[in-house]
Amino acid sequence: MTTAPRGDAPGDGRYGEAVFRPEQEGEGERIDFGALAYDDITVARLRALGAGPGWRCLDVGAGTGTVSRRLLEEAGVTGVLAVDRDVRFLLERPVTGLDVLEADITDPDFVPGRFRLVHARFVLMHLPGRERLITRLAELVEPGGVLVLSDAVDLTSGRTADGTADVTSDETGGPAAGTPYTSMMRAMWQALRDTIGTDVSWVPSYPRLLRGAGLAPVAAEIHVPPLEPGSPISRFWADTWERSRAPMLATGLVDDEAVDEAIRYLDSDACAALSAGMLTAWGRKPEETV
Ligand SMILES: C[S@@+](CC[C@H](N)C(=O)[O-])C[C@H]1O[C@@H](n2cnc3c(N)ncnc32)[C@H](O)[C@@H]1O
Repeated sequence: MTTAPRGDAPGDGRYGEAVFRPEQEGEGERIDFGALAYDDITVARLRALGAGPGWRCLDVGAGTGTVSRRLLEEAGVTGVLAVDRDVRFLLERPVTGLDVLEADITDPDFVPGRFRLVHARFVLMHLPGRERLITRLAELVEPGGVLVLSDAVDLTSGRTADGTADVTSDETGGPAAGTPYTSMMRAMWQALRDTIGTDVSWVPSYPRLLRGAGLAPVAAEIHVPPLEPGSPISRFWADTWERSRAPMLATGLVDDEAVDEAIRYLDSDACAALSAGMLTAWGRKPEETV
């Protein structure tokens, strides 16, 4: 393992500090619930893009490393450099071909080489300066290689039980009517914005941002895992709400009782709601012309 300086410069995301602290018991399991919900989709997409023997890959914000390991074990890529600002989970499960680097990807000195695949899932949405970061990640892709970004898309717009539009706020900017589930999701996004700086409003722009970073062609898809009682995605949201309960209460949008009720609802047959989706966008680095 190599250690790069972390730094407290402006631009550092605050993921893992106020919420989602890696040292808090169960944080690895929470990330793994998210991984279980999305890994099959991610790995299928990466393989369809050509990930396989001969590929050297970079997985930034690799978390517990489930994608890195499946790239090695299932896709048969030649090597994966898994980078995270906290590598404790990556070091717990070493496999041949997996290199681990502790680094902050917002650090301007983060230049770990060039790779056939650069992959970042559920990372950029938590970091400031996404446009610049996407350009910098594109620079790490070798000619002919691919940059693949996945992040959450909020799907809480819709209609309430009485058929009226379920909007985020009324004309005065105050909280609007919604289902208990949509209120919870909105409180969560607001809480993550307040504590970490998370902003998912950028995510639908990823194809355009990849194109702007000089990649072509670009494309994107969305996957929405079904919210079934006891499913990994339901357990992921329940855990996420539990861990961000204090900042969610601080938004004033929900109270303790509402959080408890929403967690019970997710695990019940009464649940009839739409999870946030995962948008995956990718773009190719043109081959160098001589
Ligand atoms: C939501 S988890 C996603 C983990 C993994 N990519 C996945 O999809 O299962 C976000 C990860 O990004 C890491 N992270 C956040 N900010 C980072 C930064 N500035 N540099 C490197 N890693 C960062 C966190 O430590 C965490 O492991």
